[in-house]
Amino acid sequence: MILVTGGAGFIGANFVLDWLAQSDEAVINLDKLTYAGNRENLASLANDQRHVFVHGDIGDSELTRRLLAQYQPRAIINFAAESHVDRSIHGPEDFIQTNIVGTFHLLEAIRGYWSGLSEESGQRFRFLHVSTDEVYGSLSKEEPAFSETHRYEPNSPYSASKAASDHLVRAYHHTYGLPVLTTNCSNNYGPYHFPEKLIPLMIVNALAGKPLPVYGDGQQIRDWLYVKDHCSAIRRVLDAGSPGETYNVGGWNEKPNLDIVHTVCALLDELSPRADGRPYQQQITYVTDRPGHDRRYAIDARKIERELGWKPAETFATGIRKTVQWYLENQDWVGNVQSGAYREWVEKNYGERQP
Ligand code: NAD
Ligand code: DAU
Repeated sequence: MILVTGGAGFIGANFVLDWLAQSDEAVINLDKLTYAGNRENLASLANDQRHVFVHGDIGDSELTRRLLAQYQPRAIINFAAESHVDRSIHGPEDFIQTNIVGTFHLLEAIRGYWSGLSEESGQRFRFLHVSTDEVYGSLSKEEPAFSETHRYEPNSPYSASKAASDHLVRAYHHTYGLPVLTTNCSNNYGPYHFPEKLIPLMIVNALAGKPLPVYGDGQQIRDWLYVKDHCSAIRRVLDAGSPGETYNVGGWNEKPNLDIVHTVCALLDELSPRADGRPYQQQITYVTDRPGHDRRYAIDARKIERELGWKPAETFATGIRKTVQWYLENQDWVGNVQSGAYREWVEKNYGERQP
């Protein structure tokens, strides 16, 4: 079996659902259930014996040690993290605790477990750390996309904490020989994306008749990948990646934020038009920029394609249509995640931003 951390969040839940749709290998899912963790994402697995959910913190090495001894996983995939840049600006401490200290405790527990395995099981074992393109910093319009050898230049507390965790993972390979793999992926979108992030926030606000808050001039560029393509890349790296290597994952899909918002609005105009027949674009509002906002991310995904034969299956056009449709068909999920805590966050982040 495998152990997944953070499997009740956006990417982790998609990964667990896809994994069990394709394989009978059981999954232990360790998740702290922060505001971003949602067991409803895994509701379809409620009676599935192949999925064992454990409510806990990756920083609790006693718990992780017990789980490892009990279940003896052949691989661990670490999704658990604080993941939202704006939240890291308002309050960095949780990011340091989970992304750095938590990853350290997880690595320590895994090192103890791995060093007690037989030679054959130890060689077969993998720890896959899910990271981000944000560790590489920001690109100008002219610069080539991030390759795996681009230097680390993180600019936000979030990306700095992810960079630190990547360094720890690397060090555990070089120092102790732990068979690690690291993936650095670009922006994901798709089902179960928490509506604090750009694409789901725009869909949810548009349908609620609320402003669509575009930071600054809206010309920041992100490189978008459908979440199920990220999951297939992780499976491929787990199967065939070389220990100690890092793999950049992306969809060759650079787009300015404003284009993304226009695309979402156009799809909603088609699939769920406003009652007054006017375009959703009318709801776009320019608001104060994010401090230290990275201008452009772009992933050079040639290594994973060349060495492991991985390519994304979706284009942006097909992926974004599926995503908008999913949100339209899952209004109950949307309603349930918009709790009091969610409303407090929206007030904190957007209340102070001047249009
Ligand atoms: P998310 O915020 O939606 O989910 C994170 C999950 O981790 C939640 O279920 C949460 O409860 C859990 N968690 C948080 N702290 C924990 C802890 N201390 N112990 C155990 N569980 C904990 O995040 P996501 O968007 O699904 O991202 C998953 C991973 O992928 C993160 O490591 C993130 O840095 C990385 N990543 C995300 C993107 C993206 O576009 N979303 C892109 C590249 C990489
Ligand atoms: O690049 C990978 C990263 O992508 C992941 O590591 C992070 O976990 C993930 O959250 C995401 O980070 P971003 O900061 O790029 O995503 P976000 O959805 O927050 O913002 C995308 C862009 O949209 C960014 O340029 C900021 C802008 N934005 C965002 C929000 C929430 C707006 O203009 N308005 C908004 O309300």
